[in-house]
Amino acid sequence: MLPEKTNCLQGGAAVHDDIVDRRQYSLRVDKRALILGIESSCDETAAAIVRGGEELVSSVVASQIATHAPYGGVVPELASREHLRNLVPVTRAALAKAGLTYAEVDAIAVTNGPGLAGALLTGVSFAKSLAWALGKPLIAVNHIEGHIHAVLLEERQKGAGTLEFPVLALVVSGGHTHLFLADHQGDGWHYENIGHTRDDAAGEAFDKTAKLLGLGYPGGPIIDRIAKFGDPGAVQFTFAQLKHGARQESKRAGRIEPDRKRFDFSYSGIKTAVLRYVESHGMQDAIEARRRGLLQIAAPVDEDFKRLCDRQTLDLVASFQAAMVGDLTQRTMAACREYAVRTLLVTGGVAANSALRASFEQSARGSRVRVQFPSRQLSTDNAAMIAAAAYSKWISGEFAGLDVSAEANLQLR
Ligand code: KG4
Ligand code: ZN
Repeated sequence: MLPEKTNCLQGGAAVHDDIVDRRQYSLRVDKRALILGIESSCDETAAAIVRGGEELVSSVVASQIATHAPYGGVVPELASREHLRNLVPVTRAALAKAGLTYAEVDAIAVTNGPGLAGALLTGVSFAKSLAWALGKPLIAVNHIEGHIHAVLLEERQKGAGTLEFPVLALVVSGGHTHLFLADHQGDGWHYENIGHTRDDAAGEAFDKTAKLLGLGYPGGPIIDRIAKFGDPGAVQFTFAQLKHGARQESKRAGRIEPDRKRFDFSYSGIKTAVLRYVESHGMQDAIEARRRGLLQIAAPVDEDFKRLCDRQTLDLVASFQAAMVGDLTQRTMAACREYAVRTLLVTGGVAANSALRASFEQSARGSRVRVQFPSRQLSTDNAAMIAAAAYSKWISGEFAGLDVSAEANLQLR
């Protein structure tokens, strides 16, 4: 199947503070290209088939939570070993679910960064071998771009017509807390970073706080489910006022634009604040008892957490979540105002958080910003988002050579 070009843009002005951006990106596509996506950047081995950038045909995710849980975080060497074990069966399962053979796939897309170097390398090597053996094009995809396209894939699938510019994406996960203006020119997507975390990612703060409180791993989903039992106003957390040094000139659409305001985040301080609270309130013994208690339960349910957490802990958890959600929403909505954003995409593992979704929805209500999230399954790492992000590269023939490599610190542009 040959790539055709149909994605259309009306108008032409680039996003700029004083220019009203009236362009719309057509989400309607009529493509039959079958792209096999492969994802192995962190602790999920995933494969998926997406047709025409709009139809999720199959998606398989092998989680490594059980492997890493005893360590309270991802152990890179174990992650690579698990990927090696899982890549072939997961890919076969995705093809089988789709009722397809390797030969029927049109292109192989793979995450080549950012992420854990060894983990990325397993997926990239596997995808390169497949592309070479099958004689199919190889498409390298940035993991962060994948998270952004998880939302676009599902919007297309729902039959949404257009996406209004300017588009801002908050990618908030275990490894990233980034704000990108996303623009579509010609056949491709272009991104401008207007904010990122100066230290820990938001998901990392959730995971470290949960670990500190003896709640288990990964912490985000656990905090999400138990925060509703505590008082979010019990403990006050404050965030640093971040000073933005000399503003950088940014290069977009082949021309230098004037200063662009930045909206950075910082989440290492709140983790330290939780630690101080724990120490000053003598909570260590209760935490140790909880850790041991939860180790005895294979799949703890709400009642187990309630039984093993006293009121003070539940209040602390609720307050932590409320503070994180408040800061993420406030900074992102300030960026929306600054850049006259019309569409806000909130994506990445932390976008699965129910309080975060509610907070963005409430903040956007009555404003001109339309906020969109992926489904919960596509918020966390998966390969459907990689196959979806590869679609516009397929259209424009942006293929990777067999010398493409894993890049742990790959930037998104
Ligand atoms: O996108 P993802 O699967 O992997 C990375 O690219 O990092 O995100 C994983 C992160 C973890 O930190 C996890 O705790 C967090 O997303 N997470 C959540 C929730 N579900 C996953 N954080 C808060 N609330 C959730 N419901
Ligand atoms: Zn991710």
